[in-house]
Amino acid sequence: MAEPIPQISVALTVNSTAEVVEVEPSESLSYTLRNRLGLTGTKLSCDVQACGACTVLVEGLPRSSCTFLTYEARDRDVLTVEGLARDGVLGPVQEAFIADSAFQCGFCTPGMLLTAHAYLEGEASAEGDDDDLIEYMSGNLCRCTGYLPIVAAILRARKARALETSAPGATAGPAD
Ligand code: FES
Ligand code: FES
Repeated sequence: MAEPIPQISVALTVNSTAEVVEVEPSESLSYTLRNRLGLTGTKLSCDVQACGACTVLVEGLPRSSCTFLTYEARDRDVLTVEGLARDGVLGPVQEAFIADSAFQCGFCTPGMLLTAHAYLEGEASAEGDDDDLIEYMSGNLCRCTGYLPIVAAILRARKARALETSAPGATAGPAD
């Protein structure tokens, strides 16, 4: 009979909530999020870091949670799609995806939203052009939309953010 795999205790913050999870040393962050924390908004498709469906943000940067170990996320901040809305109110990127009908089946959408959120929060958003945006999003694949509405939605959110932050007396806040 096989020996049980010893588990390790990992402390991390998920969507601003401190968590301690008991996991196998080789456990992926996607497994932990979905099966131990009930955050099934994180989707799994290829499971080999090729499609971006499982993207979450770790310390504000997009990571493929199918190949990112939960152990690697210890003592770090993780943002999943469940954390984008605040007090039940969708964030600007989510609203922009709705306005531009930037999804069909929706399977890629959580990862798209999180990568877009990272883009808008990062310096690339302020400095970059549309090609930079497309390059930034290139790790997230969509088999339904043809990408144009997704790009339009992110540009819409970027424009809204620029208007917001350039308004007299405005202070730059989170984009989503
Ligand atoms: S499921 Fe993780 S990159 Fe495809
Ligand atoms: S909306 Fe179906 S994969 Fe993107």
